Amino acid sequence: MNTESIPLAAVIGSPIAHSLSPRVHGYWLKKYDLRGHYIPIELSQDNLAYGIEALIRLGFKGANVTIPYKEAVVGLADVITDRAALIGAANTLTFRKDGRIQADNTDGYGFIANIKQHVPAWSASTGPAMVIGAGGASRAILSSLLSERVPEIYLVNRTRSRAEMLAEHFGARIKVVDWTKAGAAMAEVDMLVNTTSLGMTGQPPLNLPLAKLRKGTLVTDIVYTPLRTPLLVEAGKMGCQTVDGLGMLLHQAVPGFENWFGIRPEVDEDLRQEVLNA
Ligand code: ATR
Repeated sequence: MNTESIPLAAVIGSPIAHSLSPRVHGYWLKKYDLRGHYIPIELSQDNLAYGIEALIRLGFKGANVTIPYKEAVVGLADVITDRAALIGAANTLTFRKDGRIQADNTDGYGFIANIKQHVPAWSASTGPAMVIGAGGASRAILSSLLSERVPEIYLVNRTRSRAEMLAEHFGARIKVVDWTKAGAAMAEVDMLVNTTSLGMTGQPPLNLPLAKLRKGTLVTDIVYTPLRTPLLVEAGKMGCQTVDGLGMLLHQAVPGFENWFGIRPEVDEDLRQEVLNA
């Protein structure tokens, strides 16, 4: 009889029913024929610290964290990775054997890994990038592009002051560009990233003029419902390279799965289909 404990992991947030993470981890547990379970747990704000403590006592290996707790969990962790500290938010907790809670942020990793999987020759260092939006997703993407040695990032946000706060935080390579000037500045960029929810089913499309984008510019979106957002469709028609946002969700799950279940899983086409059919 196998008496080894069965590894457990969770995703915590509120609401949580919509989360695709159980599908992703469930697919890998099955694919690699591992004993283990990954479950969604809804936690109220009042129960966040208690809930995490309970998971530790129950022997969970760790948890993903989603809206609205990504910032709050940083304050509950004992060890914070550099990238989580820089972003000010965490999406991956590991409950270590020494009893300490480690908080990491793998969103930026997922963003870069997705692009590299679809465009292997891509390098951030070839020229400026433009990032639209200044929320949590933008912070993770800015920090990942900076570590990939992007020379400059044009940061565009409807509320300019939020972009200016990020420029202050992330340093001189971030140049704030006014929403009204973004269309013209697109002529200079090698990459364009939408980090807002614009273009998502039920939301208005991103209303920026794309005509100045050069052929071959890499255009990517964090929105993945629909998979081909109006931004990606239009950029594709103009001869830009496009990468959809689903892969970011899949790749950000890799480091957590490896920490908790012991195998570095692969993001393959079958996994994409599994999640698309959810
Ligand atoms: P997240 O953490 O998921 O990135 P967020 O912090 O709410 O979410 O940030 C949402 C981003 O989308 C912001 O950059 C927001 O712009 P503002 O800072 O001006 O609010 C942007 N956004 C949302 N709706 C928008 C709209 N209708 N037009 C332009 N930008 C919008």
